[in-house]
Amino acid sequence: DTAGKTITCRAAIAWKEKSPLKIEEVQVEPPKSGEVRIKMASTGICGTDDHVLKGDLSMKYPLIPGHEGAGIVESVGDGVCSVKPGDKVLTLIVPQCGECDACLHCLGNFCDKQDILPCSGVMMDGTSRFSYRGQTVYHSFRTSTFTEYTVVPEFAVVKIDDAAPLDKVCLISCGVPTGYGAAVNSAKVTPGSTCVVFGLGGVGSAIVMGCKASGASRIIGVDINEQKFCRARALGVTDCLNPTKLQKPVQEVVMEMTGVGANFAFEAIGKIETMLAAWNSCNNSYGVCLIVGVAPVNTQLCLQAVSIVSGKTLKGVCLGDYKTKDCIPQLVTDYLQNKINIDPLVTHQLPFNELHKAMKLYYKGKTIRCVLLF
Ligand code: APR
Ligand code: ZN
Ligand code: ZN
Repeated sequence: DTAGKTITCRAAIAWKEKSPLKIEEVQVEPPKSGEVRIKMASTGICGTDDHVLKGDLSMKYPLIPGHEGAGIVESVGDGVCSVKPGDKVLTLIVPQCGECDACLHCLGNFCDKQDILPCSGVMMDGTSRFSYRGQTVYHSFRTSTFTEYTVVPEFAVVKIDDAAPLDKVCLISCGVPTGYGAAVNSAKVTPGSTCVVFGLGGVGSAIVMGCKASGASRIIGVDINEQKFCRARALGVTDCLNPTKLQKPVQEVVMEMTGVGANFAFEAIGKIETMLAAWNSCNNSYGVCLIVGVAPVNTQLCLQAVSIVSGKTLKGVCLGDYKTKDCIPQLVTDYLQNKINIDPLVTHQLPFNELHKAMKLYYKGKTIRCVLLF
């Protein structure tokens, strides 16, 4: 029985930005009051983790990355009542504390207790549960899933169906709701509409699924990596564009293809250029541009000011507008009941000790999602 004891286990550490991950032996302290220690079963490698490793978000290093996690509760701290040891759970990068303004507002989901913007790297009491030979190792987003054991606040973890296959449902912790919810909840894509999706990675693919499920009749997929096109078409993309092979800017091509611009444009890359291209691909009067990608923290989005007065909408969305603790378990159940299929997004599964191979596949653009298994 490990409850109440420090656990020594393997974890991936980013010692600083832009340096390769190293698998090290770390100490994981027991959960304090209001915290939960999880034995990880699987984690996805999400674009946001790549932003962390590149140093595009303001983080404290060394840290243990990862947030798209599934696992089993090992032990809980005082006062924890929504999960118990043995429960299957997902980690929540966007938590739901239930008490803050965003949580109490019917339209809000960007909970005050999130630790993304900015990332403190520590738990609510200001300390970390991870250490390496006595040195503090920081949490990322209070999730840190690239480790055999992690500790998260109770508001950043949710119990899911006992029947959920843990080797796949980690995607429902971030990528699936982030993309699918952007289309169905935030944009509310309408039947017969034209959509354009910038970025056909894990999140972009989930956006495509949401557009398709909403009855979009045309879905234009944009990516600089043509390896992504075949799988994107299988999910519902009708036209694929590689901006590097076009004679003119991609937004002009989208304008020509559609005549009037897209009803809905989604950016799922996290770059200023593609955010502007998405904005300029939208219909001038009623188009809606959804920013899903996370731009580097110190950048500014500069729009031609007059371009907004004709009526189009620019909208940001995180975690698909879902109130996570309330809604994520239902998505797992929907998957179990074949109402949403995440299987095409899981293109690779590798044991945790093959992390380097997994990262290589990610950087070569071979994966939609590679799931690491513990
Ligand atoms: N133009 C078009 N496509 C691009 C460009 C570009 N300039 N740069 C990168 N891409 C493509 C990549 O080839 C890849 O297919 O964007 C895709 C990004 O996919 P992933 O790396 O799988 O990232 P994902 O997990 O989908 O996250 C995308 O959403 O939640 C945010 O923080 C996340 O900003 C990230 C974005
Ligand atoms: Zn909250
Ligand atoms: Zn993510």
